[in-house]
Amino acid sequence: MDETPTLDDLREELLELASSARALVGWYEGTGAWGLPAEGDAEEALALLSPSRGGGSVDRGAPERRPAPAAAPQFRPPPGPAPAPAAPPPAARPVAEPAAAAPRPAPAPVPAPAPAPPRFPADRPQPVIAPARPAARGPVSAEERMHRLAMLADEVRGCTKCRLCQARTQTVFARGNPLSELCFVGDAPGAEEEATGEPFAGEPGALLDRMIVAMGYHRDDVYVCNLVKCRLPDGQKLRPDDIEACKPHLAEQLQLVSPRYIVTLGTVATQGLLGTTEPITKLRGTWKMYKGTPVMPTFHPAYVHRQPSAKREVWNDLQQVMARLGKAPPGKS
Ligand code: URA
Ligand code: SF4
Repeated sequence: MDETPTLDDLREELLELASSARALVGWYEGTGAWGLPAEGDAEEALALLSPSRGGGSVDRGAPERRPAPAAAPQFRPPPGPAPAPAAPPPAARPVAEPAAAAPRPAPAPVPAPAPAPPRFPADRPQPVIAPARPAARGPVSAEERMHRLAMLADEVRGCTKCRLCQARTQTVFARGNPLSELCFVGDAPGAEEEATGEPFAGEPGALLDRMIVAMGYHRDDVYVCNLVKCRLPDGQKLRPDDIEACKPHLAEQLQLVSPRYIVTLGTVATQGLLGTTEPITKLRGTWKMYKGTPVMPTFHPAYVHRQPSAKREVWNDLQQVMARLGKAPPGKS
């Protein structure tokens, strides 16, 4: 009997190989690493695997090389109810800059069996992931975050990236708890803030503190900072270039604090953080997103101070945040 494999045998074997390869690739795609087309037949996959990538025996012309899957799955928290604790997601959002992030295993050059089972079996549609926010604070320890925040504050102290450095006597970085679940963002420090070195030190600050207490926190439980870190001279307005220059500081600051929720105070802070020109009257009371963190815009305490009738709307906005944080006003728990 002739044991020599026929062309058909070889072809069948190759198709089987291709099919296994595709299953493996499907796993990689499911985990967001890399992949070949998940659709299409084995012949096409085989053609892609061939050194020439030219199609070989596939009789349909040279297949185009398909682009790799666009991006790894994003694990962003939805603006859905937050308080329910959940298991940490396998891929937490890094809290630090990529260079400083906790080391990740280097991708293996050759597909190898993973130590853990695949997150998404290749043959099932990917589930929508709702990550638990606390885990999204990332692998960086609280100590490390505090340390990096202190380094950032130091860097800001010497910053000369915009005109506001000229008249300042000191920068105003933040106040409150840097590990807080809740962060308030105002626009710019004024004279009182510059004198004390703390954001919201004046009359609007006293009102902000009352708002914080009404939410069931102590003033020092939450984190408070501004869009820009240098005093805005009296009578002047923040310019877009001031905001742009200081934005990387704020971005890093918020990434390190990694609050579960951000409340922006007033038009300038809200528009500056979210990069929108919509008026605060339209933005307030509606959930927005900043780099994966839900943001609740509300009126600025200085405005509320001048316009006490706005308290009702601010309270409404803050209550939405409290509901997500599972907070009750003092005495109502
Ligand atoms: N207004 C702000 O927006 N921030 C401050 O720190 C003070 C007043
Ligand atoms: Fe630097 Fe920000 Fe101060 Fe401008 S406002 S000088 S960007 S720290």
